[in-house]
Amino acid sequence: VININTQQQGARISPTLHGIFFEEISHAGEGGLYAELIQNRGFEESNLPQGTTLEDGFIVPKRTPHFSSHQISDWKMEWPVKSEWPSWSATDGIQLALTDKQPLNYHSLEVNIKAKNASLMNEGFWGINTIAGNKYVLQFYARNYKGPVTASLQSSNGDVLASYTFTDINKKGWSKYSAILSAVKSDPAAHFVLTFGNTGVAYLDFVSLFPQQTFKQHGLRLDLANYIADLKPAFIRWPGGCYVEGINIESAPDWKRTLGPVEKRAGTYSPWGYWSADGFGYHEYLQFCEDIHAAALYVFNVGISCDYRSGTFTNDIDSVIQSALDAIEYAIGPATSKWGKVRAANGHVKPFPLQYVEVGNEQHGPEYALRYNRFYDAIKKRYPQIEIIASMGIGDVNRNTMDSMHHIDLADEHAYKGAYWSFNHDNHFDKYKRGNWKMYVGEYATNAGVGTGNMAATLSDAVYMMAMERNSDLVKMSSYAPLLVNVHDIDWPVNLINFDAAKSFARISYYAIKMFNENRPDVNLATTVTTAPSTAPAFSGGIGLSTWDTQSEYKDIEVRQGDQLLYKSDFIQRAEDWQLLRGKWSVQDSSLSQTAEGAQLMAVLKGKSFDTYTLTLKARKKDGFNAFIVPFAVK
Ligand code: AHR
Repeated sequence: VININTQQQGARISPTLHGIFFEEISHAGEGGLYAELIQNRGFEESNLPQGTTLEDGFIVPKRTPHFSSHQISDWKMEWPVKSEWPSWSATDGIQLALTDKQPLNYHSLEVNIKAKNASLMNEGFWGINTIAGNKYVLQFYARNYKGPVTASLQSSNGDVLASYTFTDINKKGWSKYSAILSAVKSDPAAHFVLTFGNTGVAYLDFVSLFPQQTFKQHGLRLDLANYIADLKPAFIRWPGGCYVEGINIESAPDWKRTLGPVEKRAGTYSPWGYWSADGFGYHEYLQFCEDIHAAALYVFNVGISCDYRSGTFTNDIDSVIQSALDAIEYAIGPATSKWGKVRAANGHVKPFPLQYVEVGNEQHGPEYALRYNRFYDAIKKRYPQIEIIASMGIGDVNRNTMDSMHHIDLADEHAYKGAYWSFNHDNHFDKYKRGNWKMYVGEYATNAGVGTGNMAATLSDAVYMMAMERNSDLVKMSSYAPLLVNVHDIDWPVNLINFDAAKSFARISYYAIKMFNENRPDVNLATTVTTAPSTAPAFSGGIGLSTWDTQSEYKDIEVRQGDQLLYKSDFIQRAEDWQLLRGKWSVQDSSLSQTAEGAQLMAVLKGKSFDTYTLTLKARKKDGFNAFIVPFAVK
């Protein structure tokens, strides 16, 4: 029985409650939303990130005198690049070399053609989705070569799906060549081929291929952009996430580098292990916000790189603040202002819908507080209408840091939780003292104990959203994270929208968010629900083995109480969940035995609503992991 008291009203629900978080992670943009079909189009993928060196296959930040460091001593990241020209290959009769001589932009590819009709190939982003009847827009720059060149899309068996021959390639200096490739046959995983009719040396740069039709003709992949637009997000948070912070301060994103002709952009190294060519740059981001009627929420680097990685920082805070002010001016300044003029020259005279900025990502502590205060004062002085968000990090907002921050419009709390966490913590937001700041849950997702996302994840997300709604006097904004994953390069266990070159699908949590947003209530009403006594067991829960790096190595997991099988699955658990849940559970005792084959964990658990349970977990594993006990649910 549900009793609703219309006279007793609670919080009004924020109209901006549901937005999106878009980060360059898992090829979400590069090889994802950004519709470019050629991977490594500018031949820059094998560049080391700025300010780093390569030592024994690891990227190591350089220590320069003006950058202090607090955590870089033992930090290093495996360098994932194995070839000088990733994604490109050639037939016999061609010798390749990367060169920085007379470049169009940093590096170009030297193609030494020793046999007529030899070919250069690009695999696309794990295939190029070619559809019969569709057209593809090709551009590339070449110099030095004389002779015909045929550009084509081909299947792995050599079937030609689309082709165009340039007969007039004969310029000594850089020249741009463009054509439309019309597909006569389909293949969801085709590749791109340039066939040289003559021998000689050709230099190539910026080899780009786009579907002719993109979202609003602004260069975004239709299916993915439509998924996002259909969510009707109130805002888009960009560019991250850890991406904002960079692996070191020199290689962290700089919005100014993402403006101007795409073939001249330097690109940004994502901490997730690949380059963004920055085709989707600051201007394109603002344009996308406008196109889908979402407010822009731009996140600045505060001059500190990712804490969990190299943790380098610059002491030149003034320059970082000036860059933030310039970015705001680019977005909303009059077309007569310095940066407004640049925006107008880039084709957008009117201001873009920038309404929020966030100062850093997942940072806190005294150094952060100091920087935040300076950002806040400088931005509010010039742009009082912009709402400023303080980044607080994973877990509950950090009150110690906040005490030293003068003004906070919104505090960003990140919440990655285990299955059913929200069921047991529906009062999570109630505990916050209402005061001078509101809350933005900038990243949330149920991503532990749910494989790559299942119904348990969605139900948990839905309950979490209900808690936000009920506390919407405090929680004004939220965004699920991460948004997009290219299934060929997965950096994060659970994501909202999955895709490959040809297909995409949104997980059930996507539809839950859509439903909540489309049916967003105006106000909470006092409600009581009376149900028949439950016949469910007092306990449904378990224990898990977990590591960060080798989480996917667990197989055939079983949780038993005595002979009774309570849980059987392939599941992923993370060390943090144990950290997050500590306190709610008490683990009375535990023992772990490991063999080369697998592991067995016994834990005696005691919770508030049940007595003592002794559970045994068995899991097959591969080599090298630490074990954690991870209770993941209690009911
Ligand atoms: O959403 C994935 C990552 O989770 C983000 O980059 C980071 O902010 C968070 O820790």
